[in-house]
Amino acid sequence: MRINKFIARSGVASRRKAEEYIKNGRVKVNGNIMTELSYKVNLGKDLVEFDGKKISVEDEKKVYILLNKPAGYITTVKEQFDRPSVMDLISDIEERVYPVGRLDYETSGLLLMTNDGDLTYKLTHPSHEFKKTYIASVKGVPTKDEMKNFKEGLKIENYITAQAEIKILKTNLEKNYSVCMAVIHEGHNRQVRKMFEAIGHPVMNLKRVALGKINIKGIESGKYRKLTKSELEYLKNC
Ligand code: URA
Repeated sequence: MRINKFIARSGVASRRKAEEYIKNGRVKVNGNIMTELSYKVNLGKDLVEFDGKKISVEDEKKVYILLNKPAGYITTVKEQFDRPSVMDLISDIEERVYPVGRLDYETSGLLLMTNDGDLTYKLTHPSHEFKKTYIASVKGVPTKDEMKNFKEGLKIENYITAQAEIKILKTNLEKNYSVCMAVIHEGHNRQVRKMFEAIGHPVMNLKRVALGKINIKGIESGKYRKLTKSELEYLKNC
């Protein structure tokens, strides 16, 4: 089995992420750092380690949790600034689970975490049009024309956004802000913030409230629950 597939199957990361980890020298095979992406793991013989911990593809129990991420947490495993990570919020789960996709440090809300590398791969693949719903408090009040542009496509750096949805839920003219619901089907870096910025209404606060039809209702900030069977089937079959 190719090394990146082996890593994904072990639940450590998606295949794409695994390649990055291999290039960064975080993967060892039989005690030696392995940077060859085409390496084929000799199942049952090779000892594979990630960050110094043995990993395997033996039927590890798959775990799927929904975390209500508070603002002020990173969704990567570790980083140079030592800020708190969502991993610190997971206490009673024995398996190592990893975030599916990312949420910015300042963004709160729904974050799916799992050790199922195949599902992570599927849900984070760019061709996958999975609907993500956000509630954003933004400066000012978007006009009809600005909302039309938001829906139809905006030029952001080197890409044009796909069709999106936007709806104003509340406006406060005195304090000059509004609360909007936005739905996007992509996952570019800081995309929702950049889209609001592009129509002239910078985001002050951002929360992801739903992934497809799975939503965060009932989960307190910083807490999590397991996915239900029907939620899992839904994600696997979508
Ligand atoms: N879009 C953003 O701008 N930030 C997030 O965390 C997620 C989507």
